[in-house]
Amino acid sequence: MSTNNDKLVIFDTTLRDGEQSPGASMTKEEKIHIARMLERMRVDVIEAGFAIASQGDFEAVQAVAETVKDSTVCSLARAVGPDIIRAAEALKKAEAPRIHTFIATSPIHMKYKLQMEPDKVFQQAVDAVSHARQYTDDVEFSLEDGSRSEPEFMYRIIEAVINAGASTINIPDTVGYGEPEEYGAMFRRVIENVPNSDKAIFSTHCHNDLGLAVANSLAAVMNGVRQVECTINGLGERAGNASLEEIVMAVRTRQDLYPVDTRIDTTHIVPTSRLVSSITGFPVQPNKAIVGANAFAHESGIHQDGVLKHRETYEIMRAEDVGWGNNRLVLGKHSGRAAVKARYEELGYTFEDAGEFQVVFQRFKDLADKKHEIFDEDLQSIVAGAEEPVEHYRLATLHVQSRSGQRPQAQLQLLIDGSEVSAESEGSGPVDAIFKAIESVASSQADLKLYSVNAVTQGTEAQGSVTVRLERDGRLVNGVGADTDILVASAQAYLDALNLLAGGSKNKAQGV
Ligand code: KIV
Ligand code: ZN
Repeated sequence: MSTNNDKLVIFDTTLRDGEQSPGASMTKEEKIHIARMLERMRVDVIEAGFAIASQGDFEAVQAVAETVKDSTVCSLARAVGPDIIRAAEALKKAEAPRIHTFIATSPIHMKYKLQMEPDKVFQQAVDAVSHARQYTDDVEFSLEDGSRSEPEFMYRIIEAVINAGASTINIPDTVGYGEPEEYGAMFRRVIENVPNSDKAIFSTHCHNDLGLAVANSLAAVMNGVRQVECTINGLGERAGNASLEEIVMAVRTRQDLYPVDTRIDTTHIVPTSRLVSSITGFPVQPNKAIVGANAFAHESGIHQDGVLKHRETYEIMRAEDVGWGNNRLVLGKHSGRAAVKARYEELGYTFEDAGEFQVVFQRFKDLADKKHEIFDEDLQSIVAGAEEPVEHYRLATLHVQSRSGQRPQAQLQLLIDGSEVSAESEGSGPVDAIFKAIESVASSQADLKLYSVNAVTQGTEAQGSVTVRLERDGRLVNGVGADTDILVASAQAYLDALNLLAGGSKNKAQGV
């Protein structure tokens, strides 16, 4: 679709603000995979991380910068020299690098958090932008807690950072306090009162504490904003960030209303949402707009009747336009290698070599023996749980006894570096018994941080996809397992996490 509307820049921060969500941390490989999907979706800017935050963050930004070619790659940096230098280093190989520097400008943040006078904040902001401009022409400046900042101070600082070379000005609603009319009007006033506002693109970045992140972002767009910062599935700190899929589809569906359009290829929305959910272990609620399992399901007889007679009676978007359509292509046990590989390619996966695909194809065959129809979600969870050619721990057999009124018991045979080891334990539930049995031989000293089960598809023969997050010595890993038996999936996920702790990153299929 082409319109005369202004371009709305889509800035995805799933890998930075999304990852700041407690328990959503991702490995470098997982970040690369998501970044490739975002690039394929034609996201304009990918915020890949906060380079100075840790060595892991630095390497992830660097890897995304080296991989992505068709989107701008951005790193966050506080308005201080070392942060900016680190961001610039991580982005060195990016085709289109952006440094995103920020400082808080609200009275409450300046007084209590920064303990700095406004004039000092002003100077630090200007210096940071000038410094960042030594490395790239593309510098974004954010006024943290902008929605609670004094207007006159904002006008002054924005004018100065634009003069110093910032080409994007972001005014976040950091604490999710804004309300659409008020937040939109704030942008209108800023744009009217800053003399050089025509030299920059204004940007919105909203948190969802009051459930208003998308509404606030769209109000900002109606008042002159031309960049929206958002995340897949609305992932983000506390109640999350504005959801990319909701913003993009609101703008696309209401072209009669919004003066903007995006370049997003919306057919990649659902596969990307699934990927983010399976990597983080954060399920998508069934009634979530656009990407929830029920988002396009009509249950009521009156609605079904209407849709059958004339689709637009109850449907304002087409499921296939956001990536649900192809999802119905069903593979099964008679599907061959070529069909499976082709479907993986459509979903954005490529395999390094025939050996790597063979591991995945074998798991596909094993699953197809247990389950009639293999959906896209199954394919994704097969890859997420694809076993490494060399594993430290592997599940051989599992036996669980669970009877009402008795403590469940688990007995396992594990292969540890190829040698068979038996383990057993009881627990407060069957999963607890399995994990305790594994720990009785692994003694990993790791803490269980998250256990999450998701039905990958519908019905009782669906695969259960399990995520287990373990932490040891400050290092977090996400193990995944998928099986039609969720207890087997749980054991696999726990062992997968132990393998990651033991051996570092995995040799998994790469996205796109
Ligand atoms: O919410 C916020 O203010 C942020 C900034 C760092 C952009 O995430
Ligand atoms: Zn934020």
